[in-house]
Amino acid sequence: MSDTDPILSGRDLVKTFGPVVGLNGADIDLYPGEVLAVIGDNGAGKSTLIKCFSGAHEPDSGAMKVAGQPVLFRSTHDAREAGIETVFQTLAVSPALDIAANLYLGREIRKEGFLGQVFRTLDKKRMRAEAGRHLQDLGIGTVQNITQAVETLSGGQRQAVAVARAAAFGSRVIILDEPTAALGVRESARVLQLIDDLRGRGMPVILISHDMPQVFEVADRIHVQRLGKRAAVITPQSHTMNDAVAIMTGALEVDEAEQALGPVRPVVG
Ligand SMILES: Nc1ncnc2c1ncn2[C@@H]1O[C@H](COP(=O)(O)OP(=O)(O)OP(=O)(O)O)[C@@H](O)[C@H]1O
Ligand SMILES: [Mg+2]
Repeated sequence: MSDTDPILSGRDLVKTFGPVVGLNGADIDLYPGEVLAVIGDNGAGKSTLIKCFSGAHEPDSGAMKVAGQPVLFRSTHDAREAGIETVFQTLAVSPALDIAANLYLGREIRKEGFLGQVFRTLDKKRMRAEAGRHLQDLGIGTVQNITQAVETLSGGQRQAVAVARAAAFGSRVIILDEPTAALGVRESARVLQLIDDLRGRGMPVILISHDMPQVFEVADRIHVQRLGKRAAVITPQSHTMNDAVAIMTGALEVDEAEQALGPVRPVVG
């Protein structure tokens, strides 16, 4: 695999739900170190597309690769094992659990020795210490108490926990489906900063968002999804926000030669 090969790719993906067509031959490529925004109208198939890579959906047909290897994920667990972490549009945190427990949901650290192996006793102290470190790493200073139940956090802090969880465990790719839809201006800015930090660490990110200024600020490339397919890939430099909206609605078509189908960022480290 060379540096210019995609870390994640999908070809001709089809996913139907009974009579409803979610994906109608969709392609996607994510290159190392980049932030790829995915935009499109409601129902264009953005969530369905990324759910194939999150293990939440199995495509009916088509090919998926991660790091050059063909993959088929049967569960979100499979996708996580492959290094892909997703913050879903419908936020998957457990409100009654504390922050550390949420970070480690599904991959709890057990105590060493007999207690852990036989009674599956959780090593809460270690989880809290490590959760605190993860949040610190991500610069989420407003969450002071790691033992605070997530239901007592603000929407933005909750989102930060979900993003922190993904950032802490995603080893290859992080997918964020509308991470700022419910957030205020300051909280959105913080999530945007997190995305930038992730890119700074060389972690590729897929960001689904309806917020055009945000997309144009943070994305290296912009995948426009329309009617279950990739309609075009543009960049903030090659096209305007008006162009992007026109492509979304089908008012503008872009020749392949004018698209950013390959990487546009120099690959880091
Ligand atoms: N589990 C499901 N069962 C039935 N239909 C579904 C299911 N998931 C998605 N769909 C349908 O597939 C199409 C694509 O949906 P999807 O959620 O991928 O759109 P989206 O681009 O993420 O939209 P939004 O911007 O509103 O989040 C829609 O017509 C939707 O109704
Ligand atoms: Mg969606």
